[in-house]
Amino acid sequence: MNAPLTPRPDSAAGVSAHDLRIHFATKAGTVKAVDGVSFEIRPGETFGIIGESGSGKTTLGRALAGLLKPSAGDIHYGEHDPRALSRSQRKRLRRDHQIIFQDPHAALNPRMTILQSVIEPLDIIGEGDRQSRRRTAADALERVGLPATIGKRYPHELSGGQKQRVNIARTLTLRPKFIVCDEVVAALDVSIRGAILNLFADLQKEFGITYAFITHDISVVSHVSDRIGVLYLGRLMEQGPADAVSDRPLHPYTQALLSAEPLPLPSDRRDSRRRIRLEGEIPSPLNPPSGCPFRTRCPKAATRCAEQVPQWRELRPSHWVACHFAEPDL
Ligand SMILES: Nc1ncnc2c1ncn2[C@@H]1O[C@H](COP(=O)(O)OP(=O)(O)OP(=O)(O)O)[C@@H](O)[C@H]1O
Ligand code: SF4
Ligand SMILES: [Mg+2]
Repeated sequence: MNAPLTPRPDSAAGVSAHDLRIHFATKAGTVKAVDGVSFEIRPGETFGIIGESGSGKTTLGRALAGLLKPSAGDIHYGEHDPRALSRSQRKRLRRDHQIIFQDPHAALNPRMTILQSVIEPLDIIGEGDRQSRRRTAADALERVGLPATIGKRYPHELSGGQKQRVNIARTLTLRPKFIVCDEVVAALDVSIRGAILNLFADLQKEFGITYAFITHDISVVSHVSDRIGVLYLGRLMEQGPADAVSDRPLHPYTQALLSAEPLPLPSDRRDSRRRIRLEGEIPSPLNPPSGCPFRTRCPKAATRCAEQVPQWRELRPSHWVACHFAEPDL
């Protein structure tokens, strides 16, 4: 019998955001968690989204996965604007766009067996009969490298890495075109992170999935991404090819993030770069600084930085930055 989990015949999906804003009304005022970001994720690529805690990554990811309605701006899936679709088309689109979170345990029902958990998304959408759902779920478990016998077990009997594989299998049963991966290895032991990242890469190759890969860990993001966007206080500071952003960052914030990373090898190219300390906390998105949002922590800040919002400039091919003073030859 053919494996039920086959790649989709339709092409991979790209996702684009246009001047996207996600604001939350709170008692203390308006939290501008995402405040005017535009980017395009190309079909079949991994777009890394990096930034410190509170920079707006999860909020952006939830909006990309269709779980949060933008306050302004829009998100297009391929050519589709969800607002222009019928209810049934939107339902189909929601199925195509999934999100996987950091905590693999929280996502699994402790009272369900692993097989029941993996079948559940198919039960919810009502696809196929009981028999075919079981086959799809068993196939998904196999594709993520778990033995069939694990289906009878319960979440508390599994390691963190196994649980995250189960979450990936659950998502895979829906054969999504686009997955937001929100800190998917952050809760896992360092020794198994590489294997899980490789699994994501293998599934991308096999199923043509597009990823938005969210992390605060620049070593993870530069390892898995084709391109990277750097988020700070809900705005993009820099965006470009992963090797260019991680080897020759243009923005002082990205340079500081990289400086804070332990160097994997003594010969690492970053070793020769001047180390920049990232001091203090990210300011509150309730009351962001005027002009450049990074100015309160930037070692290069000048008067102009408080007065003018830096323009988005392409300083190298496909490598964009929002800093008044960034130079291509840095
Ligand atoms: N529902 C909400 N209501 C009010 N404020 C919110 C809400 N969700 C997020 N925020 C605020 O928006 C900002 C961005 O939060 P978000 O969770 O997107 O950041 P993050 O980059 O994912 O951080 P972390 O790395 O800690 O996960 C934070 O200041 C957060 O407190
Ligand atoms: S615009 Fe000014 S404050 Fe902002 S990153 Fe550039 S130098 Fe620093
Ligand atoms: Mg988050």
